[in-house]
Amino acid sequence: MATRDLHTPVLLERAIDLLGPAVDVDNAVLVDATLGMGGHSEAFLTRFPSLTVVGLDRDPEALELAGERLAPFGDRVKLVHTEFDGIDAALKRLRIRRVQGALFDLGVSSLQLDRVDRGFSYSKDAPLDMRMDTTSQLTAERILAEYSESELRRIFYEYGEEKLSSRYARRIVQERTAHPFVRSAQLVDLIAAATPAAVQRSGHPAKRVFQALRIEVNQELASLEAALPRAVDALAVGGRIVVMAYQSLEDRIVKRFLQAKSSSTAPAGLPVELPEHRPELRLLLRGAELANEDEKAANPRATPVRLRAAERVRGNS
Ligand SMILES: C[S@@+](CC[C@H](N)C(=O)[O-])C[C@H]1O[C@@H](n2cnc3c(N)ncnc32)[C@H](O)[C@@H]1O
Repeated sequence: MATRDLHTPVLLERAIDLLGPAVDVDNAVLVDATLGMGGHSEAFLTRFPSLTVVGLDRDPEALELAGERLAPFGDRVKLVHTEFDGIDAALKRLRIRRVQGALFDLGVSSLQLDRVDRGFSYSKDAPLDMRMDTTSQLTAERILAEYSESELRRIFYEYGEEKLSSRYARRIVQERTAHPFVRSAQLVDLIAAATPAAVQRSGHPAKRVFQALRIEVNQELASLEAALPRAVDALAVGGRIVVMAYQSLEDRIVKRFLQAKSSSTAPAGLPVELPEHRPELRLLLRGAELANEDEKAANPRATPVRLRAAERVRGNS
């Protein structure tokens, strides 16, 4: 399959509208912190002929496929295998001090979802893996085998917002000695059996537990919390950041971070705002922007997206 058939970039034109004014300058650099299959990057490289893209991804397969797709752009593309919280180290290694744009298109790629053996989907039986970075150690299978009942309960509750987290954690621990969980269908069956018929659910009963396991396997929230301030630190004044989140826990982190960075830090009662108290960012949108009906129809992956954007208005050095 051609790489470009694997993924239609979400809110592509909107990302170009928002980042365009910052990256449409000579020798601009855009960090695509979630390169995936390079769909967004390809469009930016095509649209802005002097732009360099630094593409980060923790998934070696994504880097390989995106590398092939972006090869025609030659040395305008620099790819780095790293978690995006390594953005500062990656730029330092490339001797890039400031960038004009940063794009985060969070979550798993359609490539990862479509590769059944990666174990991200509850609707297809597969090994309980769920690693975005196939070179890392922690898998969903290990979590289900090794975490205590209270640790399982916590991740299902916090990362899956699962009301039945205690019940599921207890059943997993009861079951796992006799029947270790190695395949996703085993977990789906256990969740189905442990869910009382009277409980009204929206969506598949295993959806939240799978989300929680994926977040824990990939330490998704911690990585995002660490990455956002590093990305903003790397932005030149006038540089812009766009973040697309697909679930509420990530979006909450993005929202709080951008709100804090776009607010004055002057202590209440100070008669004048000192320069170092001025906000570093200016929000480009009121709240989060959603996909419109046309975009959702053309690209169902866009349905849950929440896009937020800001511009750097003050330097720190
Ligand atoms: C939704 S896809 C990006 C798709 C891309 N925008 C495109 O147009 O093809 C998200 C990608 O981000 C990567 N990713 C997710 N979390 C990451 C993290 N903490 N560090 C680095 N890469 C991450 C995933 O491996 C995946 O390839």
